[in-house]
Order: sequence, then structure tokens, then C-alpha cells
Amino acid sequence: MRILLGVTGGIAAYKAVLLLRLLREQGHAVRVIPTRAALQFVGAPTFEALSGEPVSTEVFDDVPGVQHVALGKGADLVIVAPATADFMARAAAGLADDLLTTTLLAARCPVVLAPAMHTEMWDHPATRANVATLRQRGVRVIEPASGRLTGVDTGPGRLPEPEDIAREALSLVSPSLVDPTLVDPTLVEPVETPEPQDLAGRRVVISAGGTREPIDPVRFIGNRSSGRQGIALAQAAAARGADVTLIAANLAQDVTDQVEAAPVGSGPVGSARTAAGQPPCAVVRVESTAELRDAVRAAGVAADVVVMAAAVADFRPASTPEAKIKKVPGQGPAPIELVENPDILAELAHERLRAGQVVVGFAAETGDESGSVLEHGRTKARRKGADLIAVNAVGSGRGFGTEGNEVTILDGAGDVVGQASGSKREVADAVWDAVVKLLP
Ligand code: CTP
Repeated sequence: MRILLGVTGGIAAYKAVLLLRLLREQGHAVRVIPTRAALQFVGAPTFEALSGEPVSTEVFDDVPGVQHVALGKGADLVIVAPATADFMARAAAGLADDLLTTTLLAARCPVVLAPAMHTEMWDHPATRANVATLRQRGVRVIEPASGRLTGVDTGPGRLPEPEDIAREALSLVSPSLVDPTLVDPTLVEPVETPEPQDLAGRRVVISAGGTREPIDPVRFIGNRSSGRQGIALAQAAAARGADVTLIAANLAQDVTDQVEAAPVGSGPVGSARTAAGQPPCAVVRVESTAELRDAVRAAGVAADVVVMAAAVADFRPASTPEAKIKKVPGQGPAPIELVENPDILAELAHERLRAGQVVVGFAAETGDESGSVLEHGRTKARRKGADLIAVNAVGSGRGFGTEGNEVTILDGAGDVVGQASGSKREVADAVWDAVVKLLP
């Protein structure tokens, strides 16, 4: 196989030498394209000697051979290791100011980047956004390893070992190319299959958590929703290439830790993270149903898909005094008058904020004497008018606040179009599978 090995300017460039030798030992033809900065760390003669091929960094070398286009077009695989933050920013922007970046633009083969940088740089919203952009375009960005970095630092950002980079990169072209001596199943985790990028370029809005309706400044009517399913939907959508806005209502603490959200009512924060290593998503925090409705509708205007995974309070106190309601001895409890909240999902389904928008709801049900979980779900699907309703059984330790979930996905007519059980992420992917079929 013809492999282009890009090397950018970081201390981990020395490991590119080991990767080069490994690929050559496996019989691949490797041409190294370092950046100018990479040559500060490892000299061109080292790469030339080990690859047996000339090394150039500039588009003005070998002009008659038009090598800035020819190299990329003729490659079966491009690996950039280490890939610095600066290089990924240039690649994400589509810049073409040296031989490596022009080659990337010309290449039509799989491209694998192995980032290496300090943890702070890897975690920076700019880098997260660049990684997300590259992943959306189908570039495989390997998660950096965790461990000792340059100087005294430790943390995520270390270049993975050359064997791991080679294994992951070659498996992308053909699993049969992976040298079996590199894959000891007892030592090595199975290679992750890349997520399908079937939501690339799509904007999705997901509500998660449970709304709280204030009774007075210190009390509220709420529910047990943790937000886990909504977060899983956001993570799955982001991994499948979507541009995600998460409207988060009172997430459970351990779930809140997974998102870096702005204060309530402050609008979306750019580049909040859905989980370590995930592409970023915007997060808007809300508390009440009224706030949730406003936030979903504001973001929904531009969305291809809106998923209402939040547990929304059906009723709210008719009025909320500014002062705490006091207990008057001997008078018993003061009654709380409730009024109905708008049904956000039904509104979205009937209005369609954007032409062709797919609207998805969840139905948390318990079976009772008037019907089973599925029967209640069917009735709800028809009543709400959404394109899809994911029905799940709740109560007795099922559904709310738990790690796993089990759903039956119904279309607007109440017919079963999907089923999933397992982790909330597996359920999320089943929902997105059903959504993708409805997208124009
Ligand atoms: N929902 C909504 N607005 C409401 C109530 C619910 O958007 N005021 C949405 C939820 O986000 C969910 C779906 O509607 O996607 C079903 O929610 P659920 O609480 O199961 O249904 P309800 O309409 O409240 O019906 P009921 O409580 O009678 O089962």
C-alpha cells in the first residue's frame, strides 16, 4: 500500500520515525511529508534513509511533477502523526500553505490524524471544534493517549504508541492489512468502528432532563428525570456528525458533570463538551417549562430535527408569590392552584418551525387497567402528531435515572418502526437510525 506519513512539529515527532520503520517493515511504501516545524525535531535525512524516498515540505519542490497534487491523489492512506493543534486548525480551515496541507486537500483516500499536544490545548474549545469539523468530514482523529507529556505535565494529549496508530490506520483501509503480531486480543481493545456520519451537516435540538415549576422562591414541582437519555442522544448525534444544541433542564449532578453548561438563561455556550473526546455541542440551561419551551423554539427554528426527551411538567402553579409561603399554625396547608402547561411536543409537531423538520418525542409510560405501556404509547403517538415516539416503561426502577433503557419506536400512526434495549447510548443510536430514514 502507498502511505503518506505527515509529521508536524511536536516533540512526539521522534515517534513518527518508529511508525515509519514499522510501516516499512510491513512492506508498505511510505513517503514522509514533514512540516517545516517537524524538521526542527527530526532531520530530513532520517526520514529519507528510513523511507528510501525523498522528503520535501514545500509546494515549490519538484514543481514539474506537480507533487502537491500528485502525492495526495496517488495515496492509499494518509497518516499524520503527530498532528499538532496548529496543524488540525489549518486542516479544518482547508488551508493549503505547505506540501502537507495541499496533499490533504488532494487526497481522496482515508485520512488518519494522531494528535499530540498538552491537555489544555487538546481540551480548548477551538481544538474541540476543529476536531469535530474534521470528523464530520470523515477524517479519523484518533483519541490521544493519557500519560506523561513534555516537561512535568501528565494527562490526555500523548501520542499513542506507533503500533496502535498503525493498527488503527491500517484497519480503516482493510482489516486484513493489520499485522496480526500487533493485535494480541488479550492486550488490545477491539478497534472501534467509525460512527456513520449520517447526521453530518444536520442541526439537531434535543431537550433533556425534567422541568421544575416554582411554587414559591424555594419550592418547586419536579420529576425524577436525570437527563441521561437526552445526553446520550446528544452524544450519539454529535458522534454521527450533527451540529447539536442541548436544552438541559435540571440534569442530575453526575450527568451535569458531563456537560459544561452556562448559567440558566444565559443562552448557548459555544463548544461545550458532551463527554471526553466527543465533538462539542451547545448547551442551554433552563429550569421551568416556559423556559424550556422558549429555548427549544428559539433553537428549533433552524433545526432539521427536534427531539423532546425532557420530562415536561404537565401543570404549573397558577401564580408564584415572590415571598416564601409561610405555614400558619392551625390553618393546614394552603391549596396550590395548578394550570396546564403548553404541550411543547404537540405544538412543534403541528406547527413545524421549519419545513421538513423531523419531530421526535418520548413517552414514559406505565401499564394500567386501561392499557399496556405500548397501547398508551400508541395513543400518545397519534395524539401528539410527532413523526416518531420512543415509548419506554418507567417506574419500579425502570427508565428514569437508570443506566439502561428499553424503547419501542413508533411512527405518527402508532406503528412500530424500531426497537432497542441496552445502554441509553444504544437506545439513542436506534432513535437516530429511525430519524435518518425520515430525513430528506
Ligand atoms: N411533552 C411536552 N410538553 C408537555 C408534556 C410533554 O413537550 N407539556 C413531551 C415530552 O417531552 C415527551 C412527550 O411529550 O416527548 C410525552 O411526554 P409524557 O410526559 O409521556 O406525556 P404527556 O403528554 O405528559 O401525557 P401523560 O402525562 O398524560 O402521559
